[in-house]
Amino acid sequence: MTQTHEFEVIIVGGGGAGLMAAMYASQGAKTAVISKLYPSRSHTGAAQGGIGAALGNSEEDHAEWHTFDTVKGSDYLGDQDAIEFMCLEAVQSVYDLEHMGLPFSRTPDGRIAQRYFGGHTNNVTGKPVMRSCYAADRTGHMILQTLYQQCIKNGIRFFDEYHVMDLLIENGAVAGVVAYELATGELHVFRAKAVIIATGGYGRIWEITSNAYSFTGDGVALTLRRGIPAEDMEFFQFHPTGILRLGILITEAVRGEGGVLINDKGERFMERYASHVKDLASRDVVSRAMYLEMREGRGIGGKRYLYLDVRPDTVNKYAEADGRTRPDGSLYRVTAQEILSKIPDITDFCRTYLGVDPVKDPIPVQPTAHYAMGGIPTDKLGRVVVDENNTVLPGLYAAGEVACVSVHGANRLGTNSLVDLIVFGKHAGIDAAKYAQGASLQPLPDDPTAYTQETIHKLMTGDGSEKVAEITRDLRAMMFDHVGVFRIEEGLKEAQVKLEELKERYQHVCVRDQSKQYNTELTNTWELGNLLDLAQAVTVAALARTESRGAHAREDYPKRDDANWLKHSLAWMKDGQIVLGYKPVTITKYQPKERVY
Ligand code: FUM
Repeated sequence: MTQTHEFEVIIVGGGGAGLMAAMYASQGAKTAVISKLYPSRSHTGAAQGGIGAALGNSEEDHAEWHTFDTVKGSDYLGDQDAIEFMCLEAVQSVYDLEHMGLPFSRTPDGRIAQRYFGGHTNNVTGKPVMRSCYAADRTGHMILQTLYQQCIKNGIRFFDEYHVMDLLIENGAVAGVVAYELATGELHVFRAKAVIIATGGYGRIWEITSNAYSFTGDGVALTLRRGIPAEDMEFFQFHPTGILRLGILITEAVRGEGGVLINDKGERFMERYASHVKDLASRDVVSRAMYLEMREGRGIGGKRYLYLDVRPDTVNKYAEADGRTRPDGSLYRVTAQEILSKIPDITDFCRTYLGVDPVKDPIPVQPTAHYAMGGIPTDKLGRVVVDENNTVLPGLYAAGEVACVSVHGANRLGTNSLVDLIVFGKHAGIDAAKYAQGASLQPLPDDPTAYTQETIHKLMTGDGSEKVAEITRDLRAMMFDHVGVFRIEEGLKEAQVKLEELKERYQHVCVRDQSKQYNTELTNTWELGNLLDLAQAVTVAALARTESRGAHAREDYPKRDDANWLKHSLAWMKDGQIVLGYKPVTITKYQPKERVY
């Protein structure tokens, strides 16, 4: 039996962006959050090292410096009006989080503590600046808990463990969503004047990833199927330091606190690739350097990993060599106790998963698929825009990793994901409530669940000659090999062919568990369909972009090509194929220059 619910604003996704949007939307509209997880399990909880904001608590800093660093980090593909807006808003947003009760780490005089992170600099000296506001190495976790408590306090309605499987659009405006309730197997129709999609990213496409199992790109996939393009899909970030083989994130804060990357010869190789900021270069630069070291045989024992060394003696040695000082001018020196207090979760991960104690042993790491710069195109208010002219689709919003505003362009700086979800989650919530106040509910289509029912029926009644686990494994290995840190035409073309084959194989899967209650085999199978569509969009956009920019490194086109490629890509899904279009980048103050770190 399908139940129908009515709200003014529906938020799909209960991570940081969704909860922030819910808090603000609920101030002006009847609001509900639909999440496939319990919100406190959302992937925002995995963000570790901090949220960037130019508070200047430990040294001089300015929102304008943060803006420039973000533009430069984006390899000039980020929209500069949106970046400026985000970096200015970041400061107040962090204080807002503090006032909501977020337990930030503190400076000795009681202010919010800040640390170094890659690509964040003093724009005058070019040296790293302490801009990342942190709660030990649990910043995302603390944000999630704080926001969830606020939402509960504000009486926001939650539908947990409901998978949104379709978006309803009528008369050119949003009408609601269709969701599958995991506990019962029932479909629910949620009518709403505005829908905010905040479902996160899709790193599960790759074999080695820091992303949670739930990060299957549901929001981008379901909007693609409803005729909405996905922007800049070719840009996917590989974080330099994932735990060897598992991909679990080792925060960049480890390098912020003085840790260094070391190759098999014991060299601090980042000196050769980024002579100014070394291990604190932007992530695209560091991940590529690691690949080059491994390719040239300098991985540890000749293998495909390197060491991240945060042992106090190593940290102190390189701090002295770099002339690194504390804010009071004294030489930067650390003790094991100090390191352990700043990265307690990382210490636990290393002990649990690697049997390594980070203050006694170096940590084996490899780049790990981490963050989608691309996603559903939006403007600064979170409104989804559907074409090259930025035409708004009335009532549809997106925020957080699922969205492409675009503030990260071709490469996101560490800490800016949390800034993005706080700032744009808030504004999406505010604008959605405002929109809902002046809009009416759209009528529903005659049979609003028809498409979802057909999708489920197909998955439950396939011939079963193919297995979901095998297609998933083949997809992830293939994407890691051919559409990873480095790309080349031959590999991308092979990926395209393989994806066609995988999509054909997917037509033959069958969900063996025919029960209604907690049928996670069904939801996993549906999620694989999303990953396949998104992998196709990533690959087609990557093949088309014949330049290297940010996280998109083409070995056959190693240079950035502003004359032809200073533009955002838009990918539409038409009859199962990806069709590309392009739109200009917004440049305000900063003309593209060569990036030097
Ligand atoms: O390295 C980290 O702590 C990750 C942060 C981020 O992706 O912004």
